[in-house]
Amino acid sequence: MGKNYRAELTGVFGDPVEDNPTGVMEEAAYEALGLNFRYITMKVTPEDFPDAMRAVRALHMRGVNLTMPHKITVIPYLDELSKAAAIIGAVNTVVVREDGTLFGENTDGKGFVEALSNAGEELSGKTVTILGAGGAARAIAVECALAGAGKVNIINRTPEKGEELAELVRGKTKAASVFIPWSEKLSVPADTDILINATSIGLAPQDGQKPDLNYDTILPTMTVCDVVFNPAVTPFLTEAAGRGAKTVTGLGMLACQGARNFTLWTGAEAPLALMEEKLRQEFEG
Ligand SMILES: NC(=O)c1ccc[n+]([C@@H]2O[C@H](COP(=O)([O-])OP(=O)(O)OC[C@H]3O[C@@H](n4cnc5c(N)ncnc54)[C@H](OP(=O)(O)O)[C@@H]3O)[C@@H](O)[C@H]2O)c1
Repeated sequence: MGKNYRAELTGVFGDPVEDNPTGVMEEAAYEALGLNFRYITMKVTPEDFPDAMRAVRALHMRGVNLTMPHKITVIPYLDELSKAAAIIGAVNTVVVREDGTLFGENTDGKGFVEALSNAGEELSGKTVTILGAGGAARAIAVECALAGAGKVNIINRTPEKGEELAELVRGKTKAASVFIPWSEKLSVPADTDILINATSIGLAPQDGQKPDLNYDTILPTMTVCDVVFNPAVTPFLTEAAGRGAKTVTGLGMLACQGARNFTLWTGAEAPLALMEEKLRQEFEG
């Protein structure tokens, strides 16, 4: 056979999707490894979603990421789900296998656990306190529990969503889990080993904001993490660092989940450091 000019297609379906930065790191990684892969950022409305899923097969795509509002609606289109994706009830990565079947994974929480591990933190037996109960919090809570956390405290503004996530963790994993209502100037639970902001507070353009906490209850023994990746160093992390806590940025989590997607689609080891650096440059402008 002569040269193969056909590109292997990957990308993301979302609406809105314009500000999704994933393509920057995936395309840089493909280029660094000399792979003829492309990552396309695609606007797909809910009405057009069935056609877009047909296109995944018709165009012989290798896989696709899903972002708002498709992470849950994609599930009936898939042949198999990872254990975590099935518990979380949401998929952010689809892999088209050799035999044409579609596998659904959720790499958000796995990316978080890996970023934590890269920072030298293990979860076994630890108490994790999560601010938020949305998509990111759900993925992180389940993966932390599956990775061996002993207890997951959930704190959320809307109590029903927080209660539901704590119940999910208790019911589907071996970890203990409780919901704590978010009162004004909330004290961080004293049993916390790892504290995570999994809300969108602090995300640009609202990047001056931080969760309403009594920051003096953050201890130097705690590891404090943010899911917000732009800016990488949020006011929340700055307050925590000021109390002597070790901090982990959302940029690391984003790069780790992108690296997992890269490996799921290409089978190759991802150039993680390069991917994180590309994102950093992107956000620093
Ligand atoms: N680093 C990464 O790899 C990565 C991956 C995925 C997501 N993220 C980031 O994670 C963040 C959350 O995303 P998501 O998909 O989980 O969003 P989501 O499903 O909409 O959930 C948002 C969460 O933030 C809470 N929240 C928002 N504004 C609040 C406020 N002013 N006060 C108190 N709570 C507030 C919501 O509480 P209620 O339930 O009360 O509304 C909810 O728990 C975003 O910034 C996103 O960019 C990062």
